[in-house]
Amino acid sequence: MGKDAARKGLDQVLLYHEQTKHRFDRPARSAGYMDWANQPDPFRSFPECSQVRLPFLAQDPDLPMEGLFNAAPVPTQPLVLTHIAGMIELSMGLSAWKKIPGSTWSLRINPSSGNLHPTESWWVLPENQLMHGGLFHYNPYRHVLERRADLPPSSPARWRQHFGSDGFFVALSSIFWREAWKYGERAFRYCQHDIGHALAALRFAARLMGWRMSLVHGIGDEDLQRLLGFDRTAWHPGEAEEAEVLCWVGTAEAKPNRGCLPAAMIDDLAGQELHGRPAPLSRNRRPWPLIEAAAAACRKPQAVAEPASRTEFPAAVLPASPYTAAQVIRRRRSAVDFDVRRSHISRKHFMGCLQACLPHCNRPPFDLGLGVPQVHLFLFVHYVVDLEPGFYALVRNPEHFQELQACTHPQFVWRAVDEQLPLYLLEAGDGREAAKLISCNQDIAGDGAFSLGMVARFQATLQTAPYRYKQLFWEAGMIGQVLYLQAEAYGLRGTGIGCFFDDPMHDICGFSDNRFQSLYHFTIGSPIEDERLTTLPPYHHLSPEG
Ligand SMILES: Cc1cc2nc3c(=O)[nH]c(=O)nc-3n(C[C@H](O)[C@H](O)[C@H](O)COP(=O)(O)O)c2cc1C
Repeated sequence: MGKDAARKGLDQVLLYHEQTKHRFDRPARSAGYMDWANQPDPFRSFPECSQVRLPFLAQDPDLPMEGLFNAAPVPTQPLVLTHIAGMIELSMGLSAWKKIPGSTWSLRINPSSGNLHPTESWWVLPENQLMHGGLFHYNPYRHVLERRADLPPSSPARWRQHFGSDGFFVALSSIFWREAWKYGERAFRYCQHDIGHALAALRFAARLMGWRMSLVHGIGDEDLQRLLGFDRTAWHPGEAEEAEVLCWVGTAEAKPNRGCLPAAMIDDLAGQELHGRPAPLSRNRRPWPLIEAAAAACRKPQAVAEPASRTEFPAAVLPASPYTAAQVIRRRRSAVDFDVRRSHISRKHFMGCLQACLPHCNRPPFDLGLGVPQVHLFLFVHYVVDLEPGFYALVRNPEHFQELQACTHPQFVWRAVDEQLPLYLLEAGDGREAAKLISCNQDIAGDGAFSLGMVARFQATLQTAPYRYKQLFWEAGMIGQVLYLQAEAYGLRGTGIGCFFDDPMHDICGFSDNRFQSLYHFTIGSPIEDERLTTLPPYHHLSPEG
């Protein structure tokens, strides 16, 4: 990319970011009402495509919850449809249906802002005893793969040679309209958070199968669109998918060149005949030009090498959970209300939540190869036994420590509070009201045990390449997924908070420019269950024949 184009892209991304801040006197622009007649279908389908019905797991893997985050070997499952289907079920499948009189809705293993689910998953799978290889769209409602293209028989051998093991690709894409329908211009951010959540969900499910997973950086977004056939798909206006990220899932550690992808491997698929067209999601859609411009500015040019992360923290033993990893993955839900009478959590569980957020370059989920960690946690600690209430920082990349100190309020004390964690008390005090106010006045941010903002090293990261804007949200979304699961593991519950007032949070931190920006918030506490809701099993709606 030329210097001028890069400068323009950067300006566009910065403009998008500023315009989509929620301010006390003006929320980010949205339709301002719910256009129910045009609510997008949360399930994309390609009705003309042939389908591969996926088996459900007969038995969940029995890995203990702590095993999700460590490097101990997990038995490597063979790459057969049963196990690939298991990975899909435990990452992108449905987790339950909820029902109240007059309304029923589904929930998924991967969370999504407003339960709108803009993320689609695409699977490029080799032949196995039950099906020919191909490019497939996953339809979570029916738990089927929709075949969009066949795979040339020579492809898997090329992959094996390139990556050094058997494996397959999984790609994620976004349908911005699904999210913009409700949230307007801020929706592009939420779509990126959701990608981060989905990436972590995929990484954890791959771990349960004993497989490795890594991002394939060496493909530009235009080539990814071609590989997935998006450039040759008759999308309904305003409903096109934006290719976001490609991952390799292998039975062994990928060779060091895993990041790049030879042109021949892309052309293999991009040359195949495509089947089917998508069913429409809405009757009418409202365009959001600011989102389109941001997406264009964030498109990754050809094959860019990502600097590898060198960040490492001493490996700590996480407090044990009574649940297996698969149980926690299936139980994960968002809290809608916290019980202030049971608000205190143990220091051990608080530290366990934070430990799992530290980036280890050889432990899931941060071994995906997203690059140098850029996101830190600024926490409002309300009710943690043996920890003073106050404002804290968890510094996830020690190289940023001095810069963070220099950019925050000079009165912050930066007192280390734990031997095992880079956690610092900044200022003691009751932050419940502030946390609630910052989170668009949502009680859950003040009533839980703690809430937090995910603060990214912003300006310097974007200056290296505008598309890294999206990666900052992915990193934050991955942290969100870790927090969701860790909360559940300890009998607590979390909720991602996309609705927060940006600059007022920066004022609390002391940021006077955009060297650091808060991109995503989160809260954890003891949930109050809504007794009015009935829960139904995730696939009760499918007949035995599917
Ligand atoms: C990026 C993101 C932002 C979210 N923002 C909020 C929020 O501001 N307030 C809230 O109550 N829930 C929020 N949620 C929770 C979602 O509404 C919830 O994930 C969705 O309804 C699906 O429910 P589940 O998480 O129980 O599967 C957010 C979730 C995500 C992933």
